[in-house]
Amino acid sequence: MAERAVRVKVLGIETSCDETSAAVVENGDCIISNVIASQIDIHSKYGGVVPEVASRRHVELILPVVQEALDQAGLTFADIGCIGAINRPGLIGALIVGAAAAKTIAYGADIPLVALHHLEAHIYANFLTNAHIEFPLICLVVSGGHSDIVYMTGHGQYQILARTRDDAAGEAFDKCARALGLGYPGGPVIDKLAGSGDPNAVDFPRAKVGDTLDFSFSGLKTAVIRYAQNTGTQTRIEDIAASFQQAVVDVLTDHTFRAVEQTGVRQVLMAGGVAANSSLQAAIKSRGSELGISVNAPPPVLCTDNAAMAASAAYYACRRGENAGLDMDCFASEPLGSAQR
Ligand code: KG4
Ligand code: ZN
Repeated sequence: MAERAVRVKVLGIETSCDETSAAVVENGDCIISNVIASQIDIHSKYGGVVPEVASRRHVELILPVVQEALDQAGLTFADIGCIGAINRPGLIGALIVGAAAAKTIAYGADIPLVALHHLEAHIYANFLTNAHIEFPLICLVVSGGHSDIVYMTGHGQYQILARTRDDAAGEAFDKCARALGLGYPGGPVIDKLAGSGDPNAVDFPRAKVGDTLDFSFSGLKTAVIRYAQNTGTQTRIEDIAASFQQAVVDVLTDHTFRAVEQTGVRQVLMAGGVAANSSLQAAIKSRGSELGISVNAPPPVLCTDNAAMAASAAYYACRRGENAGLDMDCFASEPLGSAQR
């Protein structure tokens, strides 16, 4: 692939869950277009994502979404220097739709293809808004399926220092919201309600997993659900939401800065849908400024699933020569740092 002096336009494709997204990003940090077709309205009536419905909707949307991303950028495939497709982990039927589209375009237009891990792409959302990120760093990656603390010594270098032993942070938000009758997805609605609630109203548990940095959110989820069942309407829903959110924020912030202390890094990144949480961003930024640690968090639209993050990650992966073949497969569950293409 071309050297840094040449501006390389990368087409990113993301279909791992319930967003069909395509984007064009130049040199890993300049978003030219980022089209996100959300399926939330379809899945919310079921209280969560229905995999088969998601796959079918991706099939309907993928080509118009890719075309829209090119049209908004005023480009054709001839202008694209690399295609980055998320091929792992995620809903397998959903991943296959994006991967098939990416392979077809790569073959038809003779463009190098890169296979991306979904969490790698989330991390690279940070590079879309900040050109001054320095390694080594710690990234807190919190989404509907993962709660990881990742140590990076350079581009493409990932070491997982912590993961969840049960529910992911976003899963806890979604399941609590569902139990409280707040709909799907739970994160944004709890974030909003918590803004007018008392975070100290209910003392929900902050779980520890021995001396490790690992997370456990299923006990907290059960405590919130039991509390709501037992107290009925005696406690304001805003106070329950704020107290639950505070418990999640406390644990995520505490573990992130323990990882900072253990590794001695001076840079923290935030990534994944839960990183859009206003209280979490405020807590991590405030602890960072107390300790003189630089903290970067993408804006909410780049925290949740989108293809610009994939295009950014693909730019760096392509520069490392990590090209995938047309036999690129998809994987429902793969740890970050795996070499699956
Ligand atoms: O990264 P993402 O869009 O998809 C996955 O990779 O899972 O993350 C979705 C998750 C959902 O659980 C959603 O409830 C949560 O991110 N989320 C939030 C917020 N916005 C989205 N959680 C807390 N606060 C938010 N503002
Ligand atoms: Zn995601």
